[in-house]
Amino acid sequence: MAIRSYKGVTPSFNASVYVDESSILVGDITLGIDCSVWPLVAARGDVNYIRIGDRTNIQDGSVLHLSRATKSNPDGYPLIIGDDVTVGHKVMLHGCVLGNRILVGMGAIIMDNVVVEDDVIIGGGSLVPPNKRLESGYLYVGSPAKQARPLTEQELAFLKVSANNYVLLKDEYLAEAQ
Ligand SMILES: CC(C)(COP(=O)(O)OP(=O)(O)OC[C@H]1O[C@@H](n2cnc3c(N)ncnc32)[C@H](O)[C@@H]1OP(=O)(O)O)[C@@H](O)C(=O)NCCC(=O)NCCS
Repeated sequence: MAIRSYKGVTPSFNASVYVDESSILVGDITLGIDCSVWPLVAARGDVNYIRIGDRTNIQDGSVLHLSRATKSNPDGYPLIIGDDVTVGHKVMLHGCVLGNRILVGMGAIIMDNVVVEDDVIIGGGSLVPPNKRLESGYLYVGSPAKQARPLTEQELAFLKVSANNYVLLKDEYLAEAQ
């Protein structure tokens, strides 16, 4: 497993977290309980920080980075992800803020200073340009991503189910590794 320090700061998480040994986590990154990071994820907390809540999964080949502070933007753009978030395969998350119970579809790109409110689905292959705010309870699709329709009750319930499924799966992987 490639867990690397940068400027004396090492990624931090407890024993409930599964990090695949092929993924690379660098620097100022914290993950909450029961998270999972799947093969070939690259997450780099070097010029800002990454915070990930509980029971969130980052699927294979995803890339997580952030933007540094500048004179005009003294905080830069860290990457902050909430609880029960499913980040699909090969997603790019850059300097954005994701709330809770979100599904980011495969191959989506979310750029700097985007805020995704709780309970949102972003369709596979979507691109969310900088500074957008995605409203709670809606499906967004396309490039650039547009609000497509409200989520159904079934889809809203699925957001939590998806996160729980990944908690169960990572428990199996952790057991395998012992
Ligand atoms: C977004 C998603 C959930 C929508 O599924 P759906 O119920 O079939 O969506 P709808 O039929 O209500 O689609 C609404 C509109 O958005 C379009 N659309 C759906 N998904 C789209 C996508 N990913 N990109 C662009 N347009 C999309 C539909 O064609 C439809 O357009 P129309 O009104 O012009 O016909 C699904 O397409 C998707 O992308 N899922 C991602 C799954 C994933 O990546 N999971 C993580 C890995 S496990």
